[in-house]
Parts: sequence; C-alpha cells; structure tokens
Amino acid sequence: MTMTFVNKPITIEPTSLTTNPDGHYAIGGVSVTELVHQYGSPLYVMDDATLRSNCQSYTNPLQTVYPNHLVVYAGKACLTVGLLNLLSEEGLGVDVVSAGELYTALKSNIPQPNILFHGNNKSREELEMALKHSIRIIVDNEQELDSLIELTQAYQLRARIMLRTKPEIEAHTHDYIKTGQIDSKFGIEKSDLLRCVRKVKDNPLIHILGLHSHIGSQIFDIEPYIDLATIMAEHTVRLSEELGRPIEEINLGGGIGIKYTHSDDPPLVSDVIVAMAKQLVHEFTSRGMKLPKLIVEPGRSIVGNAGVTLYTVGGIKEIPGVKTYLFIDGGMSDNIRPMLYQSQYTFDIATKAKQPAIQTYAIAGKFCESGDVLTHNVSLPHAEVGDIMIVFDTGAYNYSMSSNYNRAPRPAMVTVSNGKSHVWVKRETLDDLIRNDCY
Ligand SMILES: Cc1ncc(COP(=O)(O)O)c(C=O)c1O
Repeated sequence: MTMTFVNKPITIEPTSLTTNPDGHYAIGGVSVTELVHQYGSPLYVMDDATLRSNCQSYTNPLQTVYPNHLVVYAGKACLTVGLLNLLSEEGLGVDVVSAGELYTALKSNIPQPNILFHGNNKSREELEMALKHSIRIIVDNEQELDSLIELTQAYQLRARIMLRTKPEIEAHTHDYIKTGQIDSKFGIEKSDLLRCVRKVKDNPLIHILGLHSHIGSQIFDIEPYIDLATIMAEHTVRLSEELGRPIEEINLGGGIGIKYTHSDDPPLVSDVIVAMAKQLVHEFTSRGMKLPKLIVEPGRSIVGNAGVTLYTVGGIKEIPGVKTYLFIDGGMSDNIRPMLYQSQYTFDIATKAKQPAIQTYAIAGKFCESGDVLTHNVSLPHAEVGDIMIVFDTGAYNYSMSSNYNRAPRPAMVTVSNGKSHVWVKRETLDDLIRNDCY
C-alpha cells in the first residue's frame, strides 16, 4: 500500500511570504515595512501558517501510520506562551529543560500530561516543581534517579518517568555513525540501564513509562532514524521483560534538519516519520507486542522556517579592495548562531524584493566584537541606509539563545496571520535592563 501525505518540502521562506507591488515583502499578509514601523527593529516575526503546516507535517502522517502518538515540541528551540498556545491548538505537547521553561509551559494551554521535563542536571527545586505538577520526567542519569527516589518518598508524590538512553548512534547533518561509546553528557549508559530499572521497578511511587533517546540535530539522512527505531525497540523489549509488563511509551527525540541555504537538502519530514514509525510497527508486531505510544520531539523543524528577523540598515562601510559592510541594528545578541557554530543563513533586502542581487556585502551587527558578523559574503540588491534586511530561518535557537550583550534590549516577537500581527513578546525596555541592578 502506498501512502501519500500533503507535505511540502521545508522551504527557506515562510510559506506565506509574498511580494507587494511596491517590491516590499509581506508575511502573513502584513508588509515588512508596516511591521518595522509598528514594532521597531530588530524584530522577530513568526508566521502562523508555516507553524501550523510544520506541525501537520508530523501529525498527519503519524495519524495514518502510528495513531498512538504524541508530537512534543522541543521548547529550547523557541519558547513563548503565545507560541505554545498555537502549538496546543495543533495537538502538540512540549518538552522543557529548566524551571523557566517549565514555568512558561505551565502558563500555556498545553495540558500538563503533555509536558516532558528534560535535563542532565536538574536541581532538587526543579525536580520538586515537576513532581508537584505531575510532569513526566525524563531521567538523565542514576544520580537523578536517586534524587527522585528520595523526593517521591519525602513528599509521597508519584513520579512518571522515562529513562534517557544512549542509542549508539550519533548524527549531525551528514555525519552519521553507529558507536557503542558515545561521549555525551546526556543519557544513561547501556551498561547501567538495567541496574537503574531494577532500582525502581518495585517502587510504588516511581512508574517507568518507557525509554527516551535523541541522536542529534540538523540531520539530513533518514537511515539513522530507521536504525534508531530498531535499536530502541530492542531496548524496549528488554525493558518490558525486566518489568514483566508491556511498555507504554517510546520517545525517539527530534533532530530533523531544515533548509537554511539553497545548498541544504533536508528530507521531507513525512518521509522520515513514516520510515521510522513503520520500522517500529515492524519491530513490535513481529514480536507479537502491543505498540507503545510513539513520542517525537522536533524543535527546529517546527519553528525554524516560520521565523524571520527584520533589521534596519543603519550604515554602509566600504573598505576599498577588501569588502563592503552593511551595518544592521542587531547581530550577535539576537542571533549568536553564526558566531557559535558558523551557521549559514539566507539574506535579502526586504524592501527591494524585486531587484536583482548585484552587490556583495558582509552583514555586520552593532556589537563590540569584531566577530559580530552574520555573514562575510552575500550577494544582494544595492542597499541603502534605511532599507529593511530580512534574515530567513531564524525561528529556532535565535530568540531562545538571545542575550543582553552590550545591554541591548531583546527584540519583540510578533506573529502574523491573515493580514494581522499580534505581539508574542514585547520589546525589552531600558528599564527592563536595570530591573535587577541594586544601587
Ligand atoms: C532531547 C532533545 N530533544 C529534542 C531536541 C530538538 O532537536 P531539533 O531542534 O534539532 O529538532 C533536542 C535538541 O537539542 C534535544 O536535546
């Protein structure tokens, strides 16, 4: 039987991007000029339509291939209450990695049973917070398990846990290796897993729901996910034998890559999800076992291309024979990824969308670091002071990694849909910056 799903490739641009007759881009039916006029710049813009279709690229195929599933958004990619409310309308849960992220999730419409708590060094306070709100905890190591045994006993609270394992696979973009020895701070070693299980299997306050694993990020291959499904099914079978009961859940993490530049060639989300889910079905049904609930944890592929950042060009500096810098009013404090990982992005002049790219620029931020450069070499239309620059695919790991370096107020974030914009995060003010100063 062949299955087809309505699933477009992950595009660089938000799906609602259009060009107005004046040559200015519009997103969600709102022109970039209007957005910058109303909210200032830099400005994070999130496209409602792209967010929803990205969610559906997971939920639609899973509905057919693996109906007992939960898509859990990896909140570290970008977290605001408004965003979570939209994702909850699409049926997604969320995973969090700190008290701050958990607090944000608890303020949203995501139902508590659909919140998962990760982290390799959760504090006692964080564990207590999770326990008191009955949040599913992904236990990362044996010490954390010991803390949970103690806390559940002290408070007479019940913990629902998954154990994070190392699946012997490491994958990042095109690097994919199967290895018995993974050097990662995350997860329980394969050799320690059964000992952890035995420690709590008869504890009435700790209930093991299943196993978790995550193999990396910005992954372009399907094969590691098929291997992951096979390995995790085998681990789950062993866990089930040890516990003497069927396992309720299996969590295969996130990591599907997106297209930042025209040379990136990520797979279709539906292709990965269907291949992985079918492999799980095969592994469990061939052993006559009931299918556990499948949890996946995408971050980047839900929010990445839904987000763009708008900047205003404040200056142009030509160094003859060297390069021409375009100065923008943001930079490393709102997007650290080029400095941190040499990440590549796609740029354009949003107020000259119909003009040909005829000039080469370096795009420099305004911060006191020579390295504060978003790209050293990009061809763009002829730019002028006052133009709006657009950087695509900034929805993931930009706002969430933003800082107040040089005491820059963090930008606002707005969402756009059907010709309307709506604030998800207000721009920080100068007073916000000194709010915690004592003098
Ligand atoms: C445990 C876990 N799950 C999910 C994700 C989401 O990954 P991505 O944003 O690449 O989909 C991450 C990211 O690092 C992670 O650590």
